[in-house]
Amino acid sequence: MAEVYQASTTAPVNIAVVKYWGKRDPKLNLPTNSSVSVTLSQVDLRTHTTAACSSSFSEDTLLLNSSPQDVSGARTQACFRELRSLRAALESSNPSLPKLSSLPLRIVSENNFPTAAGLASSAAGFAALVRAIANLYELPSSPTDLSCIARQGSGSACRSLFGGYVAWQMGSKVDGSDSVAVELAPASHWPTMRALILVVSAEKKGVSSTSGMQITVGTSELFQRRAEVVVPKHMELMTKAIQERDFETFGKVTMMESNSFHATCLDTFPPIFYLNDVSRAAIRVVEDINRKAGKIVAAYTFDAGPNAVIYFEEQNSGLVAGLFKSALGSLDGWQGRDIEVQEATDVDARAV
Ligand code: DP6
Repeated sequence: MAEVYQASTTAPVNIAVVKYWGKRDPKLNLPTNSSVSVTLSQVDLRTHTTAACSSSFSEDTLLLNSSPQDVSGARTQACFRELRSLRAALESSNPSLPKLSSLPLRIVSENNFPTAAGLASSAAGFAALVRAIANLYELPSSPTDLSCIARQGSGSACRSLFGGYVAWQMGSKVDGSDSVAVELAPASHWPTMRALILVVSAEKKGVSSTSGMQITVGTSELFQRRAEVVVPKHMELMTKAIQERDFETFGKVTMMESNSFHATCLDTFPPIFYLNDVSRAAIRVVEDINRKAGKIVAAYTFDAGPNAVIYFEEQNSGLVAGLFKSALGSLDGWQGRDIEVQEATDVDARAV
């Protein structure tokens, strides 16, 4: 029997508080702006992936939540190719190593959250795939090195190689070697940070991020200003807010970023609508909470879908989670809608 080599890992979902939206190079997945994310609890939202290789396998395969996926796409192929060439370099410098780089791969992934519902499933998916194969190949690469590979699978995946607060630096090189993720701070830096996730809809989103952002780049004039002026300013404010654990600035920039991103979606032609009535009502609940508190104690953000992530600090959890749950429960017309409030008790303290 041919030997089967195997390694497993998990990668967490990350939610951007400064959003990536737009590619300057779609092939290498190089972004038009830098971004920042916060990684949610490892318990609630994760992809678990096992990578195996063996001469007994006939071809590369990938199973996601038990269903076979196409691995011939350019993004998956780019990840396989880069990881295999790193392994091949190790094998040529150390001839006693088994020749894994030439064996077919079998990848098995499971998500514990709705796929493609605006909960950044591709981010956790590609991060786990890259990390699992890197473990299988025993590559000495750092999370930042691996982020450069995961980015080619899905841009936001580069940020899921870390826990806590992560920046994806857009970089300036044409080969993309400086477009990588770096840790701004571990989750332990801000232990009171909490998040609520409102699963407004678990359905697959209407316009994928990949095609949505390309139409935005091609048609929105607002987008230019966002990439050149708004995001650089938000990157600076957000980085400082995280360093100083300044929730008011963190919250304000998080909400303004989400609004700026969805404004460029609306300015896309034809327009892209990711928010729905429930999302807009969630924004009003956050505004009510902040008005009652007399300062920003809660912040909403939405990715390419209607689900909301609400950030707040533990000392305000009674006010925020309490008001949210009662407001959602009592709003007319909301009864019977598919709204679920999950509590992510922690931000991820551990890298995958
Ligand atoms: C709105 O990373 O899914 O979630 O690189 O084409 O795979 P591709 O796009 P993707 O886009 C994520 C967009 C976003 C914002 C963000 O996560 O920064």
